Amino acid sequence: MFDFNKDPFEHFDRLMKEAVAKQIPEANAMSVATVDEKGVPSVRIVYLKEVSKGGFVFYGNYNSHKGHDIEANPMVCLNFHWPAIWQQIRITGKAEKISAAESDAYFATRARLSQIGAWASHQSEEIPDINWLSRRVQEYEKQFDGQAVPRPPHWGGWRVIPTEIEFWFGLGGRLHERYIYQRTADGSWNRLMRSP
Ligand SMILES: Cc1cc2nc3c(=O)[nH]c(=O)nc-3n(C[C@H](O)[C@H](O)[C@H](O)COP(=O)(O)O)c2cc1C
Repeated sequence: MFDFNKDPFEHFDRLMKEAVAKQIPEANAMSVATVDEKGVPSVRIVYLKEVSKGGFVFYGNYNSHKGHDIEANPMVCLNFHWPAIWQQIRITGKAEKISAAESDAYFATRARLSQIGAWASHQSEEIPDINWLSRRVQEYEKQFDGQAVPRPPHWGGWRVIPTEIEFWFGLGGRLHERYIYQRTADGSWNRLMRSP
């Protein structure tokens, strides 16, 4: 029984923990939909790394396609789909860059090759061939040999502050349950259900 009186972050935390406990593959993988300045949408999968300060945090290259979209239009939509347990969670909200200190702290925990990759890859830009990328990886490995890899200024996190969160539970006969929380002007949550 879904307790609609509870805070949506509490539900998210519980459902994510349950999904992980049930060994749902890549439970923290989510679609991130963005829209560019011309209204053209795009979507891609990224990993949710943290829920903190009232928002959902993911990381990537600020100069990427999604980075440019978010710059032009910070409204994004996140979607988790866990087919094995027939659940979906959709989060609409405003993406904002996290602080440099937060990005530094997370970057420092990444595997060294991922850190090098963040320098080598101009995410979303056309490249001549795959050797170009391997050469750049080698160059940066040489450049940072014997020292910690600093975070590139163009790489960091976004925090999505939700305006709406929907919890979807699949049920027989397509009579699914949809619990929606909407942020109101005074910061509280408006609760409603929608027809499946
Ligand atoms: C399972 C999975 C997890 C991914 N996680 C990330 C991530 O955390 N950050 C990221 O920038 N890209 C991640 N990617 C790659 C993105 O899907 C995408 O290719 C990349 O961010 C470039 O997207 P863009 O050109 O639309 O900006 C992941 C891909 C998959 C399949």
